[in-house]
Amino acid sequence: MRDLNSNSTTMSGDLLAWYDMHARTMPWRIGPAERASGERPDPYKVWLSEVMLQQTTVAAVREYFLRFTSRWPTVLDLAAAEDADVMSEWAGLGYYARARNLLKCARVVAADFGGIFPDSYDGLLNLPGIGPYTAAAISSIAFDRPETVLDGNVERVMARIHNVHEALPGVKPLLKDHAAELTPAQRPGDYAQAVMDLGATICTPRNPACGICPWRTPCAARVAGTAAELPKKTPTKPKPTRLGIVYLAKSADGTWLLERRPDKGLLGGMLGWPGSEWNDAPTPNPPFAANWQDLGSEVRHTFTHFHLILQVKTAELPAGFNLADGQELIPRHDFRPSSLPTVMRKAFDLHNGS
Ligand code: ADE
Repeated sequence: MRDLNSNSTTMSGDLLAWYDMHARTMPWRIGPAERASGERPDPYKVWLSEVMLQQTTVAAVREYFLRFTSRWPTVLDLAAAEDADVMSEWAGLGYYARARNLLKCARVVAADFGGIFPDSYDGLLNLPGIGPYTAAAISSIAFDRPETVLDGNVERVMARIHNVHEALPGVKPLLKDHAAELTPAQRPGDYAQAVMDLGATICTPRNPACGICPWRTPCAARVAGTAAELPKKTPTKPKPTRLGIVYLAKSADGTWLLERRPDKGLLGGMLGWPGSEWNDAPTPNPPFAANWQDLGSEVRHTFTHFHLILQVKTAELPAGFNLADGQELIPRHDFRPSSLPTVMRKAFDLHNGS
């Protein structure tokens, strides 16, 4: 392997020059020109965006971020929010434990730190829901500390620069060492965002645009012609498929029967349709006796560890229905399908014929 260390200042300088020209615009980002003129990012916005970006793409996060920050402009506002309101704004982003930790974290920052985020990696790592990636991202982006940020994009870039053929996840510590060697003392916040932008826009998983890459010269995989096949990944076991049944019931005046799921477990704390367990052969358990109609087609949804196929049944909710524990009646005008987790929204869409 070539000695990139002696070259790392040149490499970070080349990447920062590229970032000065090509930085993506994001609602939470202070771009390189604003930063150079002294503007600093709002740590609350950096934290919120980084937690959201662990779920999905920049494009998908944009809308969620804008809705959250217009409803809760500061961490103190978020800390004072109702749990159910935060969960319903998060709906669709997935991994709902993250949303509960987000709220926990906001409340700790409000109660123990007067609404001011700690400005060091270790201080941030102590907060609920903040792991090594998020602590490094916030301390570099918000506080310009030279921490090493390693997400999927950066892993791919490092594997290619050094032509690393060992597979992820085992090779992660080596890739982190490579990323650390390159992290500069100058402009570490811009640099962290620059490597992520490079991975997202040029050093892409398929068809990397090596010809216009600011790191084309030192990139060992480009020279070897192996860039597109890196990083290697240890094959994962196929996911099992589970089955389930959900029951959509609406009264004559348009009121829906929903159920808030327990805080612990999958979709914890979220509203959803009453339904069966999810397993190989679910036992039907309608919330009331009725002539339940099957919608005919099913909902398919994939979670981290399994695929789910849901049968969807519907019936009219009888007047005077007695709510069981956790059940809620949501009047027509308060019902927002977008406040349901995606799998539950898919069942609603199926019922609605969309
Ligand atoms: N992906 C996650 N965080 C990011 C950031 N701050 N900039 C670019 N891409 C990212």
